[in-house]
Amino acid sequence: MNLNGKIAIVTGAANEQGIGYAIAKKFLEYGAIVTITDVNPHIQEAADRLQAITGRPITGIQLDVTHFNAMSEAISSIRDQYGRIDIVVNNAAVNIPGDSIEASLDEWDLHYNVNVKSQFIMSKLVTPIMRQQRYGKIVNIASVNSYIAEKQLYAYIGTKGAVRQQTMADALDNAPYGININCIGPGLVNTGFNDPHHDKVDGGRDEVMKHITEINPSGRAVEAEEIANMALFLASDLASGCVGGYYPVDGGYSIK
Ligand SMILES: NC(=O)c1ccc[n+]([C@@H]2O[C@H](COP(=O)([O-])OP(=O)(O)OC[C@H]3O[C@@H](n4cnc5c(N)ncnc54)[C@H](O)[C@@H]3O)[C@@H](O)[C@H]2O)c1
Repeated sequence: MNLNGKIAIVTGAANEQGIGYAIAKKFLEYGAIVTITDVNPHIQEAADRLQAITGRPITGIQLDVTHFNAMSEAISSIRDQYGRIDIVVNNAAVNIPGDSIEASLDEWDLHYNVNVKSQFIMSKLVTPIMRQQRYGKIVNIASVNSYIAEKQLYAYIGTKGAVRQQTMADALDNAPYGININCIGPGLVNTGFNDPHHDKVDGGRDEVMKHITEINPSGRAVEAEEIANMALFLASDLASGCVGGYYPVDGGYSIK
């Protein structure tokens, strides 16, 4: 399996413990030419570190996935530079705990803008390019919460259900053009992303980890690299038959 020479974009990749960073690292190791983006201004440091670790060039762009004009400019400039865009991973997301009483209207909008609308914006911008190429791979990062509810995650859970449904809708429209669109359902990965929810609901991450054998049949949290392995497969030509699928990588959380 390789991604040699493929032009890839990964959103939300500034956090070194995060899934986006792990995916970018994996793609670089397998030969892709990668651009990472994040609203976090430390994105350039992440790019520098990935370049140092993998020995491969990488571009970092500070970019808010909800801003259509900024996204459009970034996609055009990547396309102008490389002549094509082969792979996109929609990974950026927010996760503010709370039920429907606590969640403010602004928080709800933020969840839907970052987690859902961003994927619409990305598809609007990259699928015309991919259709012209008659080649493209889009990997959306969904969640076990695309199917399974947890307390105090009202807005987040709604968006992750939408990510799964939007993946199917987009896959259906684009499959005839040689574009594979799929999503991954990570289980618990200790990236820091869940810490506000753990603090609010479970007494903190350490408390959750004490009970991890009851949560995941595998008896441990999932590693960010294990999500990256699935992203690598779905971004590769080996996944040519995968259209609109949901692929859990959750240590068995969802089979109980
Ligand atoms: N960690 C888990 O247990 C878990 C489980 C299921 C799904 N996921 C999903 O995995 C993905 C990555 O999460 P993670 O756990 O690696 O956390 P993370 O915090 O490393 O990743 C989220 C990134 O999105 C970025 N981001 C937020 N708003 C943005 C915006 N407007 N524009 C651009 N970037 C923005 C953040 O700065 C952050 O770097 C998310 O889609 C999340 O829903 C995570």
